[in-house]
Amino acid sequence: FSSYILSINYLIVLVLIGMSVMNLVLNTYARNYEKRTANKLNIYRTKLKYYQEEANKLVNAKDIRIYKLEDWFYKGIKFFTKKFSNLVMKQKAKYSIANLSDSIFAVIRNLIAYTILVTMVLDGVIDAAEFTFMMGIVIGFAVWLTQLSGTYGRLKEANIRVNNFREYIDMDDKINMGEGEDVDSLLDQKLSIEFKNVSFTYPKAEKPTISNLNLKIAAGEKIALVGVNGAGKTTIVKLLTGLYTPTSGEILINGISVNDFNRYDYYRLFGVIFQDINIMPFSIAQNISGQPLEAIDYDKVNDVLKKSGLSDKIASLEDKEQTYLTQVIDDKGILLSGGEMQKLMLSRALYKNAPVLILDEPTAALDPLAEQDLYLKYDSLTKNKTSIFISHRLSSTQFCNRIIYLEAGAIEEIGTHRELIKNNGKYKEMFTVQSQYYQDSDKEENEDENKK
Ligand SMILES: Nc1ncnc2c1ncn2[C@@H]1O[C@H](COP(=O)(O)OP(=O)(O)OP(=O)(O)O)[C@@H](O)[C@H]1O
Ligand SMILES: [Mg+2]
Repeated sequence: FSSYILSINYLIVLVLIGMSVMNLVLNTYARNYEKRTANKLNIYRTKLKYYQEEANKLVNAKDIRIYKLEDWFYKGIKFFTKKFSNLVMKQKAKYSIANLSDSIFAVIRNLIAYTILVTMVLDGVIDAAEFTFMMGIVIGFAVWLTQLSGTYGRLKEANIRVNNFREYIDMDDKINMGEGEDVDSLLDQKLSIEFKNVSFTYPKAEKPTISNLNLKIAAGEKIALVGVNGAGKTTIVKLLTGLYTPTSGEILINGISVNDFNRYDYYRLFGVIFQDINIMPFSIAQNISGQPLEAIDYDKVNDVLKKSGLSDKIASLEDKEQTYLTQVIDDKGILLSGGEMQKLMLSRALYKNAPVLILDEPTAALDPLAEQDLYLKYDSLTKNKTSIFISHRLSSTQFCNRIIYLEAGAIEEIGTHRELIKNNGKYKEMFTVQSQYYQDSDKEENEDENKK
């Protein structure tokens, strides 16, 4: 090609090379800009997605209406849409400059080629057939060069993506997703739990939420975990269940480090009621079993519904345990009351029948009768299990073997209810404040009786 073209005129070669170099430089510039701003664009995209999702959530509808919050969402969505689209436009503009330069060069190239070749035809140096042939060569060579630089550009782009992926794969993974200790043999045992000097700081937080926590829970022990709001109780649950990884220190199950388990196997050891209840838009039986339809054991579903005190409610529904929750998937779906949802969560934890049962504020929404019912059943529900019961209702701690009073992420007091009352410390103070209310009203009643 090039020798033919050179034989036409070196100017065309110069223009063609100039064109490729310019294309390369401008496209590299555009790509680098895209790379530099990719993170920013991702942030805008994510923020925008959050705003849109939150604005559309059914659970937010009442707050948005009562507190007139639509303006926040409107402004937020507008703000991030603008930021997002501006940045995309800037990125695209850089590529457009490269394309524009290609077009300008193409015009120059054609002008020169035509001028030279037409002059040659007019001068009688070449005939019409040679003109067509040579023009074809010039354009063919130009297309080849453009394709070359285009392919190079696409390779570079793919390189960026592959490198992102490589970086992700090579990230230091604290979580074991590979081979791990055998969990099957642990499922029907009572398990011991140990926190060894565990500290945990939330990302970007200044102070640790859990500080140097040392704790041994014996196999089959029933622990009550208490403490003021924000003491770190729920954080401990998330650390123990493997949802968070300690910043330092180690958690052991039956003497085996959490890290030695495959994380998904590890989750099988726990039945948990989380403090924030999350109902899935599937049937009651699916919510309880967490199983695909064909694998659900309905006898077991009905058994745990009875245990959690929800069976009468379910029996009253037309589709019984096949009833869908929420109307997201099934139009005939129903909603449960706060307490009923909590009972459903208990059913789910019991269905799983895992060796460690963790209940984070399981009675907060229960009526006093349902609460009493749970306390009375607690022994049988936790038979052969190690359990942790978190509650602000301190009467609940009396059926546990030991109470841990947590303060600012550290154990302040630990012992039986009697021991801690005797101790005359923070637990006793809290217990007294809570029971005072009942005692005072008892007293008033007695005084009223006496007056009569
Ligand atoms: N995801 C998070 N990111 C940053 N900080 C968090 C996060 N979750 C909790 N915290 C902080 O950690 C501290 C402990 O929270 P945690 O939920 O463990 O308390 P708690 O003892 O369960 O309280 P409560 O009795 O109110 O349920 C709080 O001060 C809270 O602000
Ligand atoms: Mg909590």
